[in-house]
Amino acid sequence: MVDKLQKVKKILDTYDQMHLIRFYDELDASQKESLLDQILSIDFEQIFKLYDNSMKPEKLAPNELSPLEYFIKNEFTKEEFDNYSKTGENLVKNGNFAVITMAGGQGTRLGYKGPKGTYKLDLKPKKKSLFQIMCEDIKRANEKYGVVIPWYIMTSQENDSQTKAFFEENNYWDYPKESVKFFTQGKLPIITVDKKLILQEPYLVKEASNGNGNVFVSMKKHGILEDLEKNNIKWVSFCGIDNVLLKNVDTFFLGLAIDKNYSIASKSIFKRKPMEKTAVYCRKFGKPSILDYDDISISLSVSRDINGRYLYRDANILSHLMNIDAIKKVSKLNLRYHRAYKKNSFVNEEGMKQVPDGPNTFKFENFIFDAFSYFDDMLLLRVNSDEEFAPIKDFTGIFNPETAKEKYQNYWNTHQFKS
Ligand code: UTP
Repeated sequence: MVDKLQKVKKILDTYDQMHLIRFYDELDASQKESLLDQILSIDFEQIFKLYDNSMKPEKLAPNELSPLEYFIKNEFTKEEFDNYSKTGENLVKNGNFAVITMAGGQGTRLGYKGPKGTYKLDLKPKKKSLFQIMCEDIKRANEKYGVVIPWYIMTSQENDSQTKAFFEENNYWDYPKESVKFFTQGKLPIITVDKKLILQEPYLVKEASNGNGNVFVSMKKHGILEDLEKNNIKWVSFCGIDNVLLKNVDTFFLGLAIDKNYSIASKSIFKRKPMEKTAVYCRKFGKPSILDYDDISISLSVSRDINGRYLYRDANILSHLMNIDAIKKVSKLNLRYHRAYKKNSFVNEEGMKQVPDGPNTFKFENFIFDAFSYFDDMLLLRVNSDEEFAPIKDFTGIFNPETAKEKYQNYWNTHQFKS
């Protein structure tokens, strides 16, 4: 232990992070050991490199950008819709389709204690957790197509045990347990604006999940990719946990992607207000990509093609499909990291837990959509927001539990529901 402590001190001194062992002498033996091991496992070089690179503003080159073609769901005829749906249905019925729910986020904006998927929406007379809502959606498809769709859930190292316990407590809402698998994603330390790592507990450096784009390498690392291949899965849906109108199993979307020979696909919704703070789909250097809202000018946002169709108004709703070859390809890549400014509590100099009023730390995240630029093309399908998009992000903004509940209830008042 003495050797280990010396080693740790040397590292912390090099990176000016001695505060991380401020409470070392007050810890018991196992806490000391675990703190030292954790510090030795951290790649300080990487985290400071990410910090420094993220401080350099990225300028969008004028020739970099072009629009990404899209389809609009409402514009298909009934016959086309049925034909594409048939292709998707066949794949699902043959057992070649799986769902991945990415539930490893911190949910800092919602500020709810516990994994976001365990948050319960008050759907009077019943409350339903986001996990239950997701489960019911997949169960409806199972019943319709006479299959049990393998359901994989990505958790974070922080919320993994709580998530699994929640599924157990609720008896998996009667989903066949053997078809549900959990896997954890990676994590990285978070860092303050003045380049300090923080303590979550006197014996624990605060680390957080490293973005939903980490899903591919995590699938590979935890044998999920192997499992998919073993089960002859050909297409996978990748979605978040917080959209209560999400359609995990959309046979039309799937059939369209297959029949039109795409290997990746995403859904979008039309961004109604040109300057709304939403990222939109585009091409960068010809490859499918996402245009961050900071890079969107009013002229870009109102620009249209010769048919009057807007070029940059398709917002990302985190609903994607990928075929197995595409997943295999991106699981070998190191996607770039983005910096997110988030609110995180920490142990202060007096050893007290301090909750900041607003964002105080940088978190580095891979985003799933960065994988798309490794392909020449992708299917983009614009769907109806009232039917497919009711996210819960925080309590005060436009995506709060009340707005989500209203959209969910409006939708299910006009559609037959089976739970
Ligand atoms: P968000 O980008 O909304 O992040 O995630 P979040 O962590 O849930 O919430 P904030 O930003 O801290 O308030 C969109 C989806 O991606 C998942 C989330 O669980 C959610 O389903 N996600 C996000 C991960 O699975 N892992 C991550 O590291 C981040």
